[in-house]
Amino acid sequence: MKTLQNNIVEKYNWYKDITIEKNLFTPVNSFSNKLPFESAEFIRNAWNLIMKNNRLSDRLSLYVHIPFCYKTRCHYCMYYALIKHDTNLIDLYVQYLIDNITYFEPVFAKSTFESLYIGGGTPSLLNEDQLSKLLTKINDFRFHPSSEKTYEQSILTTSKEKIELLKNFGISRLSFGMQSIEPNVLKKVNRAYADEQKIREIIGYAKKTGFGEINIDLMIGLPEETSQGLRDGIQVAYEAGADCITVYIFRHLKHHMDQLDSARKKTIVNYNKEHVPEMLKVAREKVAEIGWVDTVEDDNTEYQYFTSDEHLREYSLSGYRTQPDSEYGNNTVGFGHSSFSYAQDFFRYECREKKYAFNPKSKSYVFDMVYKNDRQRIYTIEKLNRDRYVDLNQFLDLFGEKFEDVFNQEINEILYLERCKIDKKQFRLTSSDRIEHAALSKFFWNQEYLKQLI
Ligand SMILES: C[S@@+](CC[C@H](N)C(=O)[O-])C[C@H]1O[C@@H](n2cnc3c(N)ncnc32)[C@H](O)[C@@H]1O
Ligand code: SF4
Repeated sequence: MKTLQNNIVEKYNWYKDITIEKNLFTPVNSFSNKLPFESAEFIRNAWNLIMKNNRLSDRLSLYVHIPFCYKTRCHYCMYYALIKHDTNLIDLYVQYLIDNITYFEPVFAKSTFESLYIGGGTPSLLNEDQLSKLLTKINDFRFHPSSEKTYEQSILTTSKEKIELLKNFGISRLSFGMQSIEPNVLKKVNRAYADEQKIREIIGYAKKTGFGEINIDLMIGLPEETSQGLRDGIQVAYEAGADCITVYIFRHLKHHMDQLDSARKKTIVNYNKEHVPEMLKVAREKVAEIGWVDTVEDDNTEYQYFTSDEHLREYSLSGYRTQPDSEYGNNTVGFGHSSFSYAQDFFRYECREKKYAFNPKSKSYVFDMVYKNDRQRIYTIEKLNRDRYVDLNQFLDLFGEKFEDVFNQEINEILYLERCKIDKKQFRLTSSDRIEHAALSKFFWNQEYLKQLI
């Protein structure tokens, strides 16, 4: 008995360590059972079925991935992108996207999308002609009048003409990657440097063009970063006219590391882990100095979103989500290399067309199905991370099984730690520390998947 109890405590301590160390909060992408490659035809039939039965067919987000980057690949980057790009290749890719969308769009003829996110890679690499073609096609979908439409930008590849074009096509939000204002940090992570003057010029122009939100991404945890560099980065972003700043905390999960070549691995292994809490403090102090607020107020998330009270009031995010929302049934329709789609909460596929010619019959989509027990786990983990409790009736409604029966062992383990209460209505974590929530929720992870990530 003693060993068992020790195991529970040991497990809990390990969960705390990995949560902090690996910045491991979001489980969804790790819960999947890969099925063999399928054709677009197969996926379209699945979508058709889902949309026919779906309670919330207007809760749809659209994602389009542009997998090309400018000249170099940043060592820290965890997204799918190629540096080999020429106009012809991007032409082929844009045509591939257009054909792909044309093939799938009848499924969504009656749907209204809540948001659009065109991300990458570096979507601003598309020239004006490619941009116009792609956005014309995307605008065949119906969007809510207040939908948020984001286009990711890099300072070095965008232009005043592209910014105007995006505005004319109804893009409402621009997100720029800056990462750091320190040239030596960017050099260390193999990222091209955009100087301050260029940043001010481009952001200033975007601001003048009238987008609802202009965001700048910064990162912390990179090699050789300094507190002063972070302060300066925030100051430049603010003065240039950004409405908000998203500070990402560098994540280095095992499956990303495995894909890196040795040069990249070496840089990243030396990343500034110890520096992160201090840098978060610096970021908070600096945004307070400019009169902004921290909307997350929690050290232990993947990113922090800073903005002004005024902007928070005026600009309401329509809620593009990259993860399925188990409660509301958020659906994401993804197009392009390495894009994810989620439907009816938990079905998803990953599109990985290798050749830039669309062929509905070729088996080039990874189709993942998340099984019921994993769906129950994902639901529970997300609820605990977010709300700290699970409503037992809602669980029963959603899954047709009692929470207490499905997770008997997990509940008992957390009861043993005296970190939860359970009554007829709720299972509730009693601690008020967010890191503890994330660690306690790991009792509900599929342990096999969890080990694979570490
Ligand atoms: C989809 S990326 C693309 C941004 C754009 N290509 C650029 O670099 O300017 C969006 C953001 O994710 C963040 N990011 C990329 N890799 C990361 C990692 N390993 N850990 C944490 N954040 C990361 C960066 O801040 C980046 O701006
Ligand atoms: S951070 Fe942006 S520019 Fe750098 S490799 Fe990733 S997607 Fe490309």
